[in-house]
Amino acid sequence: MLYGVFSDVHGNLEALTSVLAFFEKSAVEAYIFCGDLVGYGPDPEACVQLVRGLRKSLMPVCGNHDQAALGVLDPNWFNPYARQAVLWSRKMISDESRTFLSRLTARLDGRLFTIAHGTPRRPAEEYMLTVAAFKENMPKVPVWPLFVGHSHMPLFFRIRPDHLPGAGDVELDTIEQGREVKGERRPYGVVPIVFNPGSVGQPRDQDWRACCGLYDSDALSFRVFRLEYDIELSQKKIRDAGLPEFLALRLAFGQ
Ligand SMILES: [Fe+2]
Repeated sequence: MLYGVFSDVHGNLEALTSVLAFFEKSAVEAYIFCGDLVGYGPDPEACVQLVRGLRKSLMPVCGNHDQAALGVLDPNWFNPYARQAVLWSRKMISDESRTFLSRLTARLDGRLFTIAHGTPRRPAEEYMLTVAAFKENMPKVPVWPLFVGHSHMPLFFRIRPDHLPGAGDVELDTIEQGREVKGERRPYGVVPIVFNPGSVGQPRDQDWRACCGLYDSDALSFRVFRLEYDIELSQKKIRDAGLPEFLALRLAFGQ
């Protein structure tokens, strides 16, 4: 089955529209969403409604910004820009969107894979950015592969295929457009591997373009794609909403 994999939309409707059009064109059969529909960006309500209305099978988790917008996570943990934006987003989402977000968990254990916003052990807080974080979270993953978001970086981690789980070296690398990263099946299951599709609405790897992934569950193959979108319109909406100028500027720098 072909999955459209995306994360960290953060209220950027122009970027989300571009990604969903690409998924449609690619004939994806289902969607994996790794959390953070709202926060930072100027269109939280439209983004929640667009994802909520996806016709095909959607496997979503919520992120820390979604939880803060719902009032179940204290935004005082956020930097001032993120805090201002999430408190603004809280006022902009409808009861219907609030209900949709409140039904999501920050971790989802599927039959064919696991999804967590940050990490399986602390899905709303921890970042999967180091080999230590990967190894310490391995016992918490019931089914591999694991899909994560939160860091806004397209990355993969995996146990090198010639080593047994927990006993060998870990490979960690960014995934640039066009590179295919493949998992491997063994008699005991899939060799531990983590995929991060980067961020749709606020990439932080010095590339402004929206980031997303395609996952083929038969081939265990994951690829990352970068898509241009109307960034000037997104920046204008941020300014028109009275959100911090920094949030408009950082989009252009991919930071
Ligand atoms: Fe995020």
